[in-house]
Amino acid sequence: MTGQLDDPRWVRLATTHFSQLTPEWEMKMEYILSDDGSYRFQAPDRLATFCATNGMRLHGHALIWFSQGVKAFAGLDQARFAAAYDHYIATVAGRYRGRVASWDVVNEAIAEDGNGLRDCHWSRALGQDGYMIRAFEQAKLADPGAVLFLNDYNLENNPRKGATFLRTVERLLRAGAPIGGIGTQSHLDIDIPAGQTAAFMRDAAAFGLPIHVSELDASLNSERRLDTRSPGQKLARQQARVTELAQAFSDLPAAQRFAFTVWGIRDTDSWLRRGERDDGRDSPLLFNAAGRPNPMFGALADGFQS
Ligand code: G3I
Repeated sequence: MTGQLDDPRWVRLATTHFSQLTPEWEMKMEYILSDDGSYRFQAPDRLATFCATNGMRLHGHALIWFSQGVKAFAGLDQARFAAAYDHYIATVAGRYRGRVASWDVVNEAIAEDGNGLRDCHWSRALGQDGYMIRAFEQAKLADPGAVLFLNDYNLENNPRKGATFLRTVERLLRAGAPIGGIGTQSHLDIDIPAGQTAAFMRDAAAFGLPIHVSELDASLNSERRLDTRSPGQKLARQQARVTELAQAFSDLPAAQRFAFTVWGIRDTDSWLRRGERDDGRDSPLLFNAAGRPNPMFGALADGFQS
């Protein structure tokens, strides 16, 4: 986020350890499009400039997402809704044409439990597959050079959701959607069985498309109420899952290794350390609050080098 560009320690970590950046918030519809239909671009423009100045690639995130744009698109009849939809994608993807390497064109389209697709204001207006095909077609028109991703979460954590996601990719490709890449957010559940992460990556690789690990973090906090594990046990599980993911990614053919992105640099930059989620201790990222490598950093390096 642009606020982090004013933190020299963040900038030093970002430009030392990373070659690509995903805006956590300010390239989303919830930032760019106001409820009255007006657009604001100061922050995303600043992020694009930061990347260009520092020789970093910029990954656009995200054009169409079920959770955003509800108010701005409310009350439009079918024709106006479709026109506004196309206009948003053309305006935003068009503005950053040649400045982004890629876009998450559609984010989180699969139902939470993995059983089918999510129902949302986009699907109700333009059809379950229709809104996705349309978004990819509009993004392709606006920026033919960008790699266009379908992006989702819990694809490793929930094999059923991962399978539904991949069936959706297959169906949309068959319908002619110009999907150029597969994005797996990888907000890892450190308690999933060994092998599950690698299995998803293998299945995803079968399409031959570039793969983006797009939002890796690995919370030490369990979904379970009662968590009797010691800190050491939790770190060991986190390291095992992160190494497995990094190894699975590095085992992909080079043409399919699009990028490997973490969702924040220091633990205290994480969304998991904000508001009511913050337990003051979680360590889901590569660097601690002081900017020193966590055990997860070594786990990642091990996975990449194996
Ligand atoms: O910073 C502004 C503050 O100035 C303003 O007063 C306030 C008013 O609501 O908003 C603040 O911005 C918040 C922003 O995070 C920065 O903290 C937004 O409200 C809030 O919606 C936004 O949340 C982001 C969330 O996506 C929704 O966009 C999180 O930072 C971001 O980590 C999270 O990331 C998502 C990915 O995009 C998709 N995958 C899941 C991942 C985690 O939820």
